[in-house]
Amino acid sequence: IPLRQYNTLGIDIVARFFAAFTSVDELGELIENNPNTGIAPLILGGGSNILFKDHVNGLVLKNDIPGLSVVKEDADRVYVKTGAGEVWHKFVQFCLHQNWAGVENLSLIPGCVGASPMQNIGAYGVEIKEVFEELEAFHLHDKKVYVFKASDCAFGYRESVFKRKYRNQFVILNVTYRLNKKPVFNTSYGAIEQELERMGVQDLTIQAVSQAVINIRTSKLPDPAKIGNAGSFFKNPSVVVALYEQLKKQYPHIVGYPNTDGTIKLAAGWLIEQSGWKGYRHGDAGVHERQALVLVNYGHATGQDIYDLSSVIMKSVHDKFGVELEREVNVV
Ligand code: FAD
Ligand code: EPU
Repeated sequence: IPLRQYNTLGIDIVARFFAAFTSVDELGELIENNPNTGIAPLILGGGSNILFKDHVNGLVLKNDIPGLSVVKEDADRVYVKTGAGEVWHKFVQFCLHQNWAGVENLSLIPGCVGASPMQNIGAYGVEIKEVFEELEAFHLHDKKVYVFKASDCAFGYRESVFKRKYRNQFVILNVTYRLNKKPVFNTSYGAIEQELERMGVQDLTIQAVSQAVINIRTSKLPDPAKIGNAGSFFKNPSVVVALYEQLKKQYPHIVGYPNTDGTIKLAAGWLIEQSGWKGYRHGDAGVHERQALVLVNYGHATGQDIYDLSSVIMKSVHDKFGVELEREVNVV
């Protein structure tokens, strides 16, 4: 079946086998009857962080597990269990509606709840690890369900055990998030403060923070419904202070932020823009004109076209700055 509508980059490939599931029992049955046992099934959410380089010869399983329910509550907090197939931003809107704080900075991130722990999604100063309570995941081989607490997930910047050590081994079924009844605002990200000021916000609310984030995002990130993309294609790379200082002498405007471990995180978008790629287009593969960290498909680019463009950019940034970029999207 064609997968073009199942990946936001809009890559036109096909999967040999495809099925959707709405419960762990349905999933178990599909695994049991997997027609092509040689290849591990590919679990798909919203397809907003995947680059399909080639056709899929095995089974693609679309996670459609629904559900949103409060499982625990105390004076300060509420715990919401969310089916992996729920759309992330719908969950955020649900929390905003109830006045539960913690995910407002993560407004409008595409994709499903089930993928949110995969790379510990983050934006505007917040990562999901800060509100993560636990998740349940189905192991594809022993077919049992396991509970993962935050300490089991090895969350890092765009990282978790599911992206690394346990890659393709677990299917995340649901995630429980811990929200605050009294908001603790995080407006440390410069762009949010500026936007809140521009909006004329006097009394800070989580709804205002969410709106500020939405305004910033829609002003620079391409809408996948209009131009194929998967958000940031690369991670922001971290370098040792010595290299940062050396680069700063040569490029006084370089953008870098200190990490807690003493290294400096550089803005990959800046490095790519300075290497001359912003707005570049070759065939239908390109670099977004307002955000150089986002690679785009103007229509009929193949997965290989996008991948090849990413390789040329990586080499170019390395040649100019001596900095190694790493792809953030999951290449299949
Ligand atoms: P998919 O693309 O369907 O899957 C991603 C990976 O997770 C794949 O390897 C897949 O096999 C695996 N997977 C999916 N579901 C499951 C499951 N239930 N169990 C096990 N494995 C699973 N990300 C950010 O962190 N911050 C941002 O600000 C951000 N902005 C974005 C902006 C745009 C315009 C776009 C297009 C993307 C952006 N992203 C951002 C990336 C993306 O939205 C997130 O990575 C999101 O969590 C992906 O969800 P998905 O359901 O689409 O995952
Ligand atoms: N910049 C440039 N040129 C560009 C793009 C960015 O100079 O073309 C500079 C900006 O001027 C700014 C800095 O780079 O000084 C950072 O830019 P921005 O605020 O747009 O954030 P980012 O580092 O490019 C990261 C995440 C995004 C997330 C935003 C907000 C990664 C890989 N990306 O982008 O996440 O939404 O911060 O927190 O960490 C994603 O993961 O898909 C994603 C979109």
